[in-house]
Amino acid sequence: MVTGKEFSIHFPKVDSVEQGSEEYFLIKCGDKTERVRFHDYDRIYETPGLYEYLFYERYGCNSPDVVCSLLNEHLGNGNRTIKPLNVLDIGAGNGMVAEKLKELCSAEMIVGIDIIEEAAKAAERDRPGVYEDYYVADLTDLPEPVESALAKGNFNGMTIVAALGFGDIPPLAFANGYNFIDTPGWIAFNIKDEFVCDGDNTGFCQLIDKMLDEKIMEIEAKKKYRHRFSQDGTALYYQAIVARKNQDIPEDMLKEFIE
Ligand SMILES: C[S@@+](CC[C@H](N)C(=O)[O-])C[C@H]1O[C@@H](n2cnc3c(N)ncnc32)[C@H](O)[C@@H]1O
Repeated sequence: MVTGKEFSIHFPKVDSVEQGSEEYFLIKCGDKTERVRFHDYDRIYETPGLYEYLFYERYGCNSPDVVCSLLNEHLGNGNRTIKPLNVLDIGAGNGMVAEKLKELCSAEMIVGIDIIEEAAKAAERDRPGVYEDYYVADLTDLPEPVESALAKGNFNGMTIVAALGFGDIPPLAFANGYNFIDTPGWIAFNIKDEFVCDGDNTGFCQLIDKMLDEKIMEIEAKKKYRHRFSQDGTALYYQAIVARKNQDIPEDMLKEFIE
């Protein structure tokens, strides 16, 4: 149990959790107890510090640090051809990636985008000033004003951390975001280690395979690491990836990922 000023949190015991079952916790505020799933980001972002406590302290996530360190290491290895680093941070949440981009990669400008309003509010509340702009929009269905603002963004980097797979950001969101980045550009993301085509029904693997086959993007640095522990105690391994953007994804390829 964890106790904050106005709430307490209860987690199921590790040995009572079935492997692969939906992860959740109970939050008690006054007389009210809510069951919150790990994917209920809107509810999690509403309580200051809860996202950090849950994923980073309790379940050992370190992904923003690992992905941004890999990006920085790669840029430091003679690959920083383009300065300054202007990044579009997709599935930005409450700004943990932006904070690391500033700290580790000396990013000059970062623009965030997330589908939920609570994420934007939490970023402003918890890390004011890390984003130049923050859009609340679905990257698979962008309103015109957001689309034209992003098109003028002059981004040479894109990050997607802890947001691909597990029913989070769909491949079309990755693809649409990718096409806002200049060429050449740097794409830094993480993905579940066993995200192989056979077991992937989200289409993300097919998209990446096609992009690599056609040299639209080239993977330049890769690192396997422990993303976090799941609630049943299993270590979840991911790959941190830094890729070089060589060209936009063509329209006909994009169409394959529109449902
Ligand atoms: C696990 S959080 C990761 C937050 C942050 N990147 C981090 O590492 O702390 C995933 C985020 O992706 C956002 N997301 C999911 N689908 C999206 C979409 N179609 N467009 C934009 N954001 C989306 C969610 O709202 C959520 O905030």
